[in-house]
Amino acid sequence: MTGPRASGADWWRQAVVYQVYPRSFADANGDGLGDLAGITRRIPHLVDLGVDAVWLSPFYPSALADGGYDVDDHRDVDPKIGTLAEFDAMVEALHAAGLKLVVDIVPNHSSDRHPWFRAALAAGPGSPERERYVFRHSADGPPTDWTASFGGPTWEPVGDGWWYLHMFAPEQPDWNWDHPDVREDHERTLRFWADRGVDGFRIDVAHYLTKDLTGPLPTQAEIEAGTVPEGTHPFNDRDDVHEVYRSWRKVFDQYDPPRMAVAEAVVPTHRRPRYASAEGLGQAFNFDLLEADFDPGQFRAVVEQNLDLARSAGSTSTWVLSNHDQVRHTSRYALPTGTSLTAWLLSDGTEPRADEACGLRRARAATAFLLALPGSAYLYQGEELGLPEVADLPGVVLQDPTWIRSLGTTKGRDGCRVPLPWSASGPSFGFGPEDGRPAHLPQPPWFARYAVEAEEADAGSTLAFYRAALARRRELLGGEDLEFLDSPEGVVVFERPGGWVCATNFTTSAVPLPSGEVVLSSSGDPSGVGLTELPGESTVWVQRAG
Ligand code: NOJ
Repeated sequence: MTGPRASGADWWRQAVVYQVYPRSFADANGDGLGDLAGITRRIPHLVDLGVDAVWLSPFYPSALADGGYDVDDHRDVDPKIGTLAEFDAMVEALHAAGLKLVVDIVPNHSSDRHPWFRAALAAGPGSPERERYVFRHSADGPPTDWTASFGGPTWEPVGDGWWYLHMFAPEQPDWNWDHPDVREDHERTLRFWADRGVDGFRIDVAHYLTKDLTGPLPTQAEIEAGTVPEGTHPFNDRDDVHEVYRSWRKVFDQYDPPRMAVAEAVVPTHRRPRYASAEGLGQAFNFDLLEADFDPGQFRAVVEQNLDLARSAGSTSTWVLSNHDQVRHTSRYALPTGTSLTAWLLSDGTEPRADEACGLRRARAATAFLLALPGSAYLYQGEELGLPEVADLPGVVLQDPTWIRSLGTTKGRDGCRVPLPWSASGPSFGFGPEDGRPAHLPQPPWFARYAVEAEEADAGSTLAFYRAALARRRELLGGEDLEFLDSPEGVVVFERPGGWVCATNFTTSAVPLPSGEVVLSSSGDPSGVGLTELPGESTVWVQRAG
């Protein structure tokens, strides 16, 4: 029934990409940590789900100071989770199953265990080795008062009067992108993985990389006030970062098909097309739906704006509701609008109590909305199960550096990184083998209800809904156009080429169905059989007669 998967150079333009956070997906060797062999073994799940590609979060050697985004060696596999041979086997198996692979590249920083950083520390002040990172001398405290992403200062002293810059944890020293070694080494890394068959790259914090710390530097307060002129900020979203990406594009285009790339660029919306341009990375994440409330006006505005932005870059937009950095969307939608997620996590998910049924209803409605949009949909592992956030992880098990660096005032991202439940019973719900070690983050007993095995046995499960939605999408997908249609208050209706109509009811009362044959419903039976009206907080896809 389903149409062919996207192929050719443009495969990514409307692909459904499934994010695998490798240490929490599937554990083949039973050490409690997910691994590459586990991913290979679970490819049938991805095929049954119907995605086009996998985006693999970092799998490189790492001390896991930041969940693998502290990379010791960009051209190897973390021995804790596999080998290069297992990586090659995984690529071969993914490709044999018709799936593409996008890997995460972390170019802003290395880990503090990287051989070049160790050499920089050993070689001492003024040495060529230190030139590859961003070192500054300061006799009296950090060179600036900037705050790092996970809390605390961005500068770490090394004991000889010098400090190095780290926009994230101290274990993640920033590279000096003015240094030719750094540029050459990253291009070597891109070729290394492209030569091994990788189809594309997700570029971590693509807006940082280049820096200019020569001028008078703004204070943290000035940065927060937004008074630094665009494009010439000392470290953020500088115009010259695009020289790096133009050079990478030449590398990508040496392959057939050209390798794709998607920027994680957290920049003002109007700056996003620079990252998505065809001479640069080609596509950029937009997290606007993820940040929106479940609200018709916000959803429609986000779509209109992002379709315009993507068009202006000659790219397609990206749609995201969850990822490894965010509270899962079933939980976000289960909380009253305006709830502070940081405070909610600190209360172990008790203040306020989540309305899980409402969260799931809205999550499914939003997913059907997202999957009907032109562009690429990025799904995060476990969302196909409707998995909520694990909000009550105790402080002692938390791994996110945010927890320690915020002195226990911000829990961080572990609650969306708890290993997946595959079976309804067993010591790690099938994440690892029966006799394996417990999962590296504790899974709550209620994970049993969300296990793949449990949901496969239930025709009304979230998994059944995702499978139906992805199969339908493949049948219905055509051109990249979208037209909003007139709709009642609180309902958003749009049409895609070929008479594919998507209607989302954001209100809590039922409204009439759009005319045509219902081919997908986010509530009840995914086929929409027997549906006579569009229930509150739900989405339908309707096929209009030609
Ligand atoms: C963005 C990644 O998504 C996040 O997980 C990571 O902590 C930072 N970049 C630093 O690499």
